[in-house]
Amino acid sequence: MMRAAAALLMLLLQTAALAKGNGHLMHYEADLSNRESLLRGAQLFVNYCLSCHSAAYMRYNRLGRDLEIPEDVLKSNLMFGTDKTGETMTVAMKPQDAEQWFGVGPPDLSVTARARGASWLYTYFLTFYRDPARPTGVNNLIFKDVAMPHVLWELQGWQRPVFGEQKAPDGTVTRAITGLELESPGLLNDAGYRRAVADLVNFLVYLGEPIKLTRHRIGAWVLVYLLGLLIIVYLLKREFWKDVH
Ligand code: HEC
Repeated sequence: MMRAAAALLMLLLQTAALAKGNGHLMHYEADLSNRESLLRGAQLFVNYCLSCHSAAYMRYNRLGRDLEIPEDVLKSNLMFGTDKTGETMTVAMKPQDAEQWFGVGPPDLSVTARARGASWLYTYFLTFYRDPARPTGVNNLIFKDVAMPHVLWELQGWQRPVFGEQKAPDGTVTRAITGLELESPGLLNDAGYRRAVADLVNFLVYLGEPIKLTRHRIGAWVLVYLLGLLIIVYLLKREFWKDVH
């Protein structure tokens, strides 16, 4: 009995240590009701991501419809690779080339938000840091040895790691990264960059489940309808049972 309890405790401690080793997740809740934010996110996405990543399950005209973007604005601001609005958000780069350049092909981002979650993505874009040992010159706190360069460096600037001593549960002390600090600033300050990342993550979450927007919009009307129906059905029931009693 004691032994089983001790084994369970060890397992829990190990899991906790693992979770820590992956870097702390910053909590972020996506906000799909903010159309302005989704529009800014879409702009960031086509400007900074679509050169490497596709979103092959999203069509430009669907994007336009969901976010209420007029067709001419859609064409001039968000579409660079094609002028046919019925096309999906594909990428010009060949997968073989990408693999040769980065070692791994950039994955399609259509459903990344569902696989990773909003908090993971938020943390990912905030925790790129300089690491001269890597071919791209950067590393990431929650995606160790990532092959993706820090594509938003222009906005954020460059961060460097702060090292400190970390004590493991068994008492051993190791030198580890305990935080990041800004080495050289980018175009945005900290709050501005966090907002940009939030916009981008909101957009990625929308991309993962575009119907969510519509669902929220019609959900309220469905509830109103059901409430109306309840009243009618109740009156009908009273009418039917009137003569029975
Ligand atoms: C220069 C090419 C390039 C650009 C531009 C780029 N990425 Fe990447 N991205 C990659 C590569 C390569 C990987 C694979 C990394 C790995 O597996 O180590 C990756 C991985 C990712 C992942 C992790 C996917 C997963 O679940 O494993 C996410 C999320 C991501 N990119 C989002 C973005 C977003 C959002 C942008 C735009 C702000 C962007 N990327 C711009 C090349 C790029």
